[in-house]
Amino acid sequence: MVYGGYNYLEMDYTPDLKNDILVWHWVSGTHTLETLAEAIAAESSVGTWTKLKTINQDVFTKLKAKVYKLQKVGSNAGFVWLAYPIEHFDAKNLLQILASIRGNIFGLNELSELRFLDIWMPTRLQKLYPGPKFGLKGIRKRLGTDGTGRPHIGTIVKPKVGLAPKEWAEVAYEAFMGGVDFVKDDENLVDQDFCRWEERVHEVLKVVDRVKTETGRTVAYSPNITDSYYNMVTRMERLKDMGWDWAMLDVYMIGYAGLQDIVKELHDNNIIIHAHRAGHTAETRGAFGVEYTIFAKLWRLIGVDQLHTGTGVGKMEGASALIRHYGDICRKDRSPKAGHLLSLGFEWDRDINPLMPVASGGLNAGCVDALLEIYGNDVVIQCGGGIHGHPGGTRAGAKSVKDAVDGAMENKTSIETAKKSKELKVVLDNWGYIDRLSVREKLDDLNNNRKKFEKLLMDTGYGAFAKLD
Ligand code: 3PG
Ligand code: 3PG
Ligand code: MG
Repeated sequence: MVYGGYNYLEMDYTPDLKNDILVWHWVSGTHTLETLAEAIAAESSVGTWTKLKTINQDVFTKLKAKVYKLQKVGSNAGFVWLAYPIEHFDAKNLLQILASIRGNIFGLNELSELRFLDIWMPTRLQKLYPGPKFGLKGIRKRLGTDGTGRPHIGTIVKPKVGLAPKEWAEVAYEAFMGGVDFVKDDENLVDQDFCRWEERVHEVLKVVDRVKTETGRTVAYSPNITDSYYNMVTRMERLKDMGWDWAMLDVYMIGYAGLQDIVKELHDNNIIIHAHRAGHTAETRGAFGVEYTIFAKLWRLIGVDQLHTGTGVGKMEGASALIRHYGDICRKDRSPKAGHLLSLGFEWDRDINPLMPVASGGLNAGCVDALLEIYGNDVVIQCGGGIHGHPGGTRAGAKSVKDAVDGAMENKTSIETAKKSKELKVVLDNWGYIDRLSVREKLDDLNNNRKKFEKLLMDTGYGAFAKLD
């Protein structure tokens, strides 16, 4: 086959896991799969729509993207695997890499669907990036939970916006006193007139100290510093002046360049980073887009310490098997399961620390058992409405989640725990309960039928994956 005058199909090529960046796409369009694949290979590497007088064989053989595997689903659709030699890139420049592998290809006329399913980043590439500074271990140490192994409990003060600093801090106090470890700003709260950032931080830090004095517990607050780079740095300096070491970023909104720079500043200043992913679904849902798997990998590489990875059981999209997979990308060193869930697998360099995933969005105490089934215990269970919407108020809402978590740590279901916790019982009665077994069955079912599901995807395409629940 030839696209733009050149052949990019090399079906006998064995990818070099140490020196290639691999990508996997689902595509459909107006030409044969071979042509679509070559169009992607050309446009994302050395070629264009026509033959060039300026290209030489050396450039072409050394730097082009190779299509090393194709799986047809009908004549004009299918899966495409590509390998790029690392020399193709300015490897220390993530923006350059992304402009190649996920740049112009999304605009090609021939394509009616393009899903970027996964990326394989060789450790040689990873060594050029920092990874999380504190990560899972550092956060557990900071909150003194390293010995317990229990999940952390978080909340987002609600209403999302509108409370004045003192009111906001009072809600945080109630949440901490009910058993929450971690309070954070919402993604859309930074420095509005009704709640100036600096005043809010000042008030909440007083509450953090008050909780320590009254209960002996170490709790944390993650103020949202998202803004232009200069303003983020200014806020970071103010945090340092106030002796505080935790900040939140809306990582998708900041973009990769600003994010890498502010992460470097925060790392250099020993500040823990909570990453909210608001906005990612503009790309992670639909016919054209990028799977969240790739975002999770990139944000771990860039070095955030906590990352929203979805719930599987809350208000936002995401099948439980996928949520578990994102959790694994955040915490595990490697995954041998290439192919499963349209994944290329991963192998993290030993200097890229694991980070702590955050389950957030539509949660309440009745989801705790199910979440622990999905994630295990190395997770932040974060409830906004599920705490501040509790009929007994914020403190009771926080206690309902704490009781559910404590019960689970003693191997009790929330139904059993609720016999002794009126706060938890109210939640289960009002909002219902998702039991661990129903989630386990679903996850086991997919796992046991892994090969069958993979075959279904290879035979019928991406649609079945998008429908996974
Ligand atoms: C929200 O702000 O409502 C949620 O945090 C959304 O959570 P997610 O982006 O982690 O799914
Ligand atoms: C978040 O930013 O994580 C959310 O606002 C979650 O809110 P919810 O628990 O009320 O859905
Ligand atoms: Mg929110």
